[in-house]
Amino acid sequence: LDNGLMRTPPMGWLAWERYRCDIDCEHDPKNCISENLFIDMADRLAEDGWRELGYDYVNIDDCWSSKERDKQGRLQPDPKRFPGGIKKLARYLHDRGLKLGIYGDMGTLTCGGYPGTPLDKIEIDAQTFAEWEVDMFKYDGCYSNATEQERGYPLMSKALNATGRPIAYSCSWPAYQGGLPPKVNYTQLGQICNLWRNYGDIQDSWDSVLNIIDWFSENQDVLIPAAGPGRWNDPDMLIIGDFGLSMEQSRSQMALWAIMAAPLFMSNDLRTISSKARSILQNKMAISINQDPLGIQGKLILKEKSNIEVFLRPLSNNASALVFFSRRTDMPYRYKTSLAKLNYTTGSYKVFNVFTEETMTLKDSAEFVVSVNPSGVVMWYVSPPAKLNLHQFYNGGKL
Ligand code: GLA
Repeated sequence: LDNGLMRTPPMGWLAWERYRCDIDCEHDPKNCISENLFIDMADRLAEDGWRELGYDYVNIDDCWSSKERDKQGRLQPDPKRFPGGIKKLARYLHDRGLKLGIYGDMGTLTCGGYPGTPLDKIEIDAQTFAEWEVDMFKYDGCYSNATEQERGYPLMSKALNATGRPIAYSCSWPAYQGGLPPKVNYTQLGQICNLWRNYGDIQDSWDSVLNIIDWFSENQDVLIPAAGPGRWNDPDMLIIGDFGLSMEQSRSQMALWAIMAAPLFMSNDLRTISSKARSILQNKMAISINQDPLGIQGKLILKEKSNIEVFLRPLSNNASALVFFSRRTDMPYRYKTSLAKLNYTTGSYKVFNVFTEETMTLKDSAEFVVSVNPSGVVMWYVSPPAKLNLHQFYNGGKL
């Protein structure tokens, strides 16, 4: 969507995967969906180095609202859990250089059973969100059919635009239509939405991450052209820092989400996250690869019999990112190849290892070995020697 927003994939934090529909603030005050949870996460983003790296959205998901609309027919937050109201929460975030996202649903009800935003409520809800100074809106699709979605998703895009407030727009539409043409029209999605969920919900497990990676690779020829500045495929949240992934697997999710030019919305507990998980999520080079200004989504280029997969993403300055991903379950695998075999043909390259920070110079014809741990990755930033300028990662601008 050409609204000036999200020219690189959005980054931030989203409540759903970790906190779901926990509304039991009496017994679980630290984890329930309430203004306190979002304030806590905002404080962490602002104080623990996240915001400076680009993680600036704090997004509410389902189960925030009251079960009833107010007398004027507007959505309203649950008064017990959001006593200050959404506008005050938005102000709190804005004061800290952060942005607020909120959630609604195209159907009669949200997936969690809260009031939905069907066709006749689109305008009033868009206006309410703008009045609250919300910065992003995720429009889910439970309890709606294909015909309603075809009308509702474009209508909401217009309604948000008509408010005059820049509000980034996340559409779950394709996920409800199988994610593929002819049912899904990616050209249209790119015109009306800033990002969209293509596929099922991520869960806190490596199985779930693999399932998503495989679906995105299998369908990459359809998905890659859909992505670009202002319009992103969304393989769903980062679960790094939760319970389901080992450190190897956490690096794999980070690496492959960077290759896929995916939105980086963490769903974890920033108050208690381990320093290891944090350092993966705060890896400057992985982030900078994810945020490359060309916005070209990368792809699986090789699937070896050895169960090593190679992914490549073209980047600005004639650079690229390579990921060697092991689907093995035995031991570190010594994968032997050369840049020439991976279609690099212009002589010598500088290689920067994203997770170990080692550098080397490599001729295209030279054979090399990378040792890839089970369910892990080796991730490289590759550039023609003259172009490798590490300052771009550590100084100036966002990074
Ligand atoms: C759907 C969405 C999830 C989340 C839940 C909330 O399953 O895909 O991302 O928003 O609804 O109920």
